[in-house]
Amino acid sequence: MKLVIAIIRPEALDNVKQSLFDAEIHKMTVHNVRGCGQQKGYTENYRGSINTVNLLPKVRVEIAVNDPYVQPTIDAIIRAARSGSIGDGKIFVLPVERCIRIRTGEEGGDAIG
Ligand SMILES: Nc1ncnc2c1ncn2[C@@H]1O[C@H](COP(=O)(O)OP(=O)(O)OP(=O)(O)O)[C@@H](O)[C@H]1O
Ligand SMILES: [Mg+2]
Repeated sequence: MKLVIAIIRPEALDNVKQSLFDAEIHKMTVHNVRGCGQQKGYTENYRGSINTVNLLPKVRVEIAVNDPYVQPTIDAIIRAARSGSIGDGKIFVLPVERCIRIRTGEEGGDAIG
């Protein structure tokens, strides 16, 4: 089991949702967040002096999947979120130790899927 965390542009969310749906990935948690990457939140043509980072609005999508779904999930996100410009986002993949469906007590792969 893995947790796929994608930090994407807010305007990419609808396309990412659709792309995940088309790949039969239907479970997710979405947060509004702020962040910056290697440009420290400034655009390439920013001309002022930089002494702190600029946190930009981003959307964080979390999807817990069984291992065979990790790559399809990543592919679906990239298909929908890549514009080719800086700030397209980042994907992190973390191990998941346990998952429990509260209603039934199911555990592990049965609870995630
Ligand atoms: N190393 C990191 N740790 C935590 N969050 C990160 C990290 N890198 C990127 N992020 C998050 O992802 C968002 C999008 O990052 P971004 O796409 O700008 O990455 P980048 O490494 O600067 O790549 P690019 O050069 O394509 O812009 C950031 O605003 C931040 O929220
Ligand atoms: Mg960046």
